[in-house]
Amino acid sequence: MSFVRIANLTKRFGTHTAVGNVSFDVPQGSTLALLGPSGCGKTTILRCLAGLETPDDGAIEIGGNVVFDTCAGIDLMPEKRELGIVFQSYAVWPHMTVEDNVAFPLKVRGMSKTDRLARASKMLETVGLKGFETRSATLVSGGQQQRIALARALVHEPRLVLFDEALSNLDAVLREQMRLELRMLQERLGFTAIYVTHDQAEAFGLADTVVLMNQGKIETAGPAREVFHRPASAFVARFFGMNVLESRMIGPVAGTEYVDVALNDRVTVRGVAGDGLDVTPGKPVLACIRKESVRASRAASPGSVPGTIEAMSFLGVAEEYIVDLGGVSLRATQPAAGFRRGDAVHAVMAADDWIVLP
Ligand SMILES: Nc1ncnc2c1ncn2[C@@H]1O[C@H](COP(=O)(O)OP(=O)(O)OP(=O)(O)O)[C@@H](O)[C@H]1O
Ligand SMILES: [Mg+2]
Repeated sequence: MSFVRIANLTKRFGTHTAVGNVSFDVPQGSTLALLGPSGCGKTTILRCLAGLETPDDGAIEIGGNVVFDTCAGIDLMPEKRELGIVFQSYAVWPHMTVEDNVAFPLKVRGMSKTDRLARASKMLETVGLKGFETRSATLVSGGQQQRIALARALVHEPRLVLFDEALSNLDAVLREQMRLELRMLQERLGFTAIYVTHDQAEAFGLADTVVLMNQGKIETAGPAREVFHRPASAFVARFFGMNVLESRMIGPVAGTEYVDVALNDRVTVRGVAGDGLDVTPGKPVLACIRKESVRASRAASPGSVPGTIEAMSFLGVAEEYIVDLGGVSLRATQPAAGFRRGDAVHAVMAADDWIVLP
């Protein structure tokens, strides 16, 4: 069952269309990640949902209530939409204590002081800040401020929580920890979440469904695994950091979903044909493969292509190599193998990992 329904949402700023005819649903209790490059309209969608921005067109339903509809002339005030928001800048109020920060949404709703402090205290325990109640909100670390913001967004038990780059100010360790904690919190409290980020690892780590935006429009949407493993367009492949190589169609492999394409005069690869691919020989196409699906190896193996290490960078547990296949550069991310610039190697890759797109 859908908890959030967004239908044909459009928001313009002057002549610029920030969000153009966007529709998606979020099932109850699930997390949807809104992903995409800077300026693609993610925050604008959240602000429209929260009632902080008035769309030019479309309808929004939250928990079975229409909160916005241009045709019906409905536009509920933000406080009537019953949701929680966590922004990237934690917006923790410096002149208040930790517990007053967290209890504030309950004060606005007219709850008695005793009740709201009891609720705030319970929420602080949930986010791991028990004992910090009476401390000034500025005298805690950035990560703790982020938790205060989270507690404040959840304290009135909203059924929908919106996160806008909510973890991007945290260091890598804390971010990973908070990501796991968020998932557990959500399982316990059962809220529906929309999570805006430009970090794909965060999107896949948190979300059941991913919506990838491009210039105000939905480029692709679906279950996280599908969107990731089967890029729907060259934009998607590039966004996820895949190798995207301009190539030429040789032709389909009869009776299979494979096609052969030429990367250059010397190198031919076999890959899975993407949707809407023109298989006419000679057509320009894009051959895409994940960096993690390419491996530089000393030994040749069936289907491998000889090349030279052009560059390498150390990534900690892994190394990234750029392998030159005679004028075509292919990036490979793999466990450290100790190759150096100029080494002769073989690029090992599987036909199932190549996807050929129009
Ligand atoms: N109040 C405003 N007035 C004019 N233009 C705006 C306003 N708010 C946003 N925009 C424009 O609308 C587009 C979408 O902005 P939005 O903030 O939704 O992007 P975003 O996807 O959240 O980007 P980022 O990842 O950088 O936060 C951008 O081109 C932005 O410049
Ligand atoms: Mg934004």
